[in-house]
Parts: sequence; C-alpha cells; structure tokens
Amino acid sequence: MEIHRFEKLWLGASLLLIVGLIATIVYGAVGPGVAMVDDSGGTVDPSNLTASENFREPGVYESDDGGYDVYVRAQQFSFQPGSGSPIRVPADTEVTFYITSSDVTHGFNVVGTNVNTMVIPGQVAEITVNFDEPGTYHVVCNEYCGAAHHAMEGTIEVVPRSQYELQSQEVTDE
Ligand code: CUA
Repeated sequence: MEIHRFEKLWLGASLLLIVGLIATIVYGAVGPGVAMVDDSGGTVDPSNLTASENFREPGVYESDDGGYDVYVRAQQFSFQPGSGSPIRVPADTEVTFYITSSDVTHGFNVVGTNVNTMVIPGQVAEITVNFDEPGTYHVVCNEYCGAAHHAMEGTIEVVPRSQYELQSQEVTDE
C-alpha cells in the first residue's frame, strides 16, 4: 500500500502533537513540584482540638529534624496564630503547617506562594514549605465561611535564619 507523501507528513505532525500534549501534561503534574494536600495530617475532633494527639496547641514549634512545625486553628473569622499576632518563621528552613478548623470549612492560602489548602473541620491539612525570601506574607481564607469571610486574613513574618528566635510564649510543654 502506498501512502501519499502529504498523508505521511500529516500523520507525523499529528503524532508529534499527541506526544507534545502528553509531555505538557506530565510536566504539569510533576515538573513545578505541585502536589495535592493529602490526608497525612490525620483527623481531629473539631470540638476538642487541643486534646487531639494530631493537633497541638496552636503556635510554632521546633521539629525534631531541625525545621519548624506551625499549628494553626482556623475559625470564623481568624487564624490562630496569624490574625492577631503574625506567625514568625525563619527563611531557608523547612516549615510544616498543620491547619484545622474548629467550626466551618475555611481556606489557607499564602499569597504569592503555592501554599493553598482547604481547611476542613475534623481534618488536619499538612503542608511543608521553604520560604526562600524573608518578608511579610499574607494569608487569606479563600473558602466562603460566613458574613466576615472577606476579613479573614493573617500574616506570616519570614525572618532571616540568622535572626530567628523562637518566641518562648509560643511554646508549651504539654
Ligand atoms: Cu474563613 Cu472564609
């Protein structure tokens, strides 16, 4: 069977297109380091958060591997810590956020980064991030959670590693 020259050309071009499309999908899935927030943070009893072994008192803690763990409670209409006092963490350090809600579904989005998760009562969202740049980062709630949803926001202060000191009042030995 003879295939016409132009037909071969088109066959080749459409194969190239298919390979190209698959390549962009593969790159989008694994290339930029984007991942879904899974259920690794575990579950909690939303009415009794601090009693849960998966969720400590809100605050910043030193973790065993030299990084920091930040426990954040979202509630109508604030992040604790974050809304009243900023969350202070060092730059160039692995910081893992554990976020849960004590009432309704909220969002936790650090503006200008890919840190973005739904915060569901009963579930602990776990996200690890490494802030390269010191500075002030804003946190917004991006799930409609009630009348003052638009006012639900917080702040993360990322300070140079050499200047960082864990504020003692944020640590509790329980
Ligand atoms: Cu919390 Cu919207």
